[in-house]
Amino acid sequence: MGKQISKENLKYYIKTFGCQMNERDSEKMAAALENKGFSPSLPQDADILMVNSCAVREKAEQKLYSFIGRLCLEKKKDAKLIVCGCVVQYKGKEILNRFKDVNAVLNTRRIEDFEQVLKDVLNGKRIMYIPSIMRNPNKILPHLKNRTGAFVDITYGCNNFCSYCIVPYTRGKEISREKEYIIKEIRMLTQGGVKEITLLGQNVNSYGKGLYKNYNFVDLLYDISKFDDIQRIRFVTSHPKDFSCSLILAIKEIDKVCKHIHLPVQSGSNRILELMRRKYTREEYIEKALLFKETTKGSITTDIIIGFPTETDYDFEQTMDMLRKIRFDFSFSFKYSPRPFTAAASTKERVPKETKEKRLEKFQNLQEKITWESNLRDVGKIFNVLVEGDAKRGALLTGRTTTNKIVNFSGEAKKGKIVKVVIQEAKKHSLQGNMEDSYGKFENQRCGFLRR
Ligand code: SAH
Ligand code: SF4
Ligand code: F3S
Repeated sequence: MGKQISKENLKYYIKTFGCQMNERDSEKMAAALENKGFSPSLPQDADILMVNSCAVREKAEQKLYSFIGRLCLEKKKDAKLIVCGCVVQYKGKEILNRFKDVNAVLNTRRIEDFEQVLKDVLNGKRIMYIPSIMRNPNKILPHLKNRTGAFVDITYGCNNFCSYCIVPYTRGKEISREKEYIIKEIRMLTQGGVKEITLLGQNVNSYGKGLYKNYNFVDLLYDISKFDDIQRIRFVTSHPKDFSCSLILAIKEIDKVCKHIHLPVQSGSNRILELMRRKYTREEYIEKALLFKETTKGSITTDIIIGFPTETDYDFEQTMDMLRKIRFDFSFSFKYSPRPFTAAASTKERVPKETKEKRLEKFQNLQEKITWESNLRDVGKIFNVLVEGDAKRGALLTGRTTTNKIVNFSGEAKKGKIVKVVIQEAKKHSLQGNMEDSYGKFENQRCGFLRR
């Protein structure tokens, strides 16, 4: 007979693939477990293991299966394994059939029912829980404690049906949460010491559609900025078709709103953008992106898909040209991957793998150079940095600038405080510096010495 899970010393492990929405969903489940007395652990010590899956590219799905396989071998014999997230929506049954050690599958639409699923699993049941609609998008689900920053969902799902993308099929139609619940959730978070809020949605700019006539994302930003305890507000993801001038002005006007947007362009070619059903042209994108840069002096990051079906050398050069024009501070670029249910997956004219690889390398090389140059330009500047904790290596502190760059720095400061940091060195993906106070002290001491 296997060992029963004891009430004390319960442990959980959670692995998250995918985007910030999945990170937030994982947090909801982790926080529910911690409220029940579970603590995080390595997979081999855990009583409950969860894998939160991403379906956006085939590679992510393949990684999921090998990861589940590994966990089945590594986990304690009686530990329970739950697979959740986007892949479950269409492969939940297959996962249960293929992996006998998986105790439950749970999609993204009712994370609120996680505790019931957990109870059933602990009682020895094997469950497929894939409800088709959300019951209550307004419900406030738990957050982990002692955090400086927190993710807050403002919309769920997506209505855009870009021709390459599986998300509308895995996460369902777009629903905005009522503003009162968002505000209530943020109030609770401030009481727990949170200083930075990141608002989440597949297209935050469409917040309020179908819910309010006269209240939109910009209004929400102004309302959240009224919280004294919130020092910074971020948001992902912005969709270029709905990214407005009034939002650009709000980003400039509201000090607490960080001067950074993630504005996925996907391609620089009008022909490809149309096939992707993105509903904007390269000219519109360039106009909005440059206006944002000029008005806010902020940074822009983006997502790029290389080798969308029928992409020619000319189309790709248009994407390269877009990179040269906008000079994205960073981008997430991936080869196109055909996904189930999506319109583009049935296109026969695929770009050969080698061509995609060559183009991707070319794009990434130039992006790397531009990111490096953008970081170099920050050397010598002073930034307000929100202290997030100790850096991974050495005894440095870590935080981010309002333009969303990671800064590792020396000095003494508490988590959650905004400090001034003088940048001394540009790294490939981060900046390094000294806190202005310690820098100042050092300078003063030197001056004192010279005066004597
Ligand atoms: N809602 C966001 C993005 C969600 S998916 C938006 O509209 O921008 C995150 C990123 O994955 C996308 O921006 C896109 O660049 C990438 N992606 C989505 N489907 C893909 C596919 N089939 N192949 C390659 N990349 C894909
Ligand atoms: Fe996918 Fe397009 Fe929706 Fe983004 S906007 S999640 S890319 S369908
Ligand atoms: Fe992946 Fe689902 Fe996010 S498919 S990118 S985890 S919405």
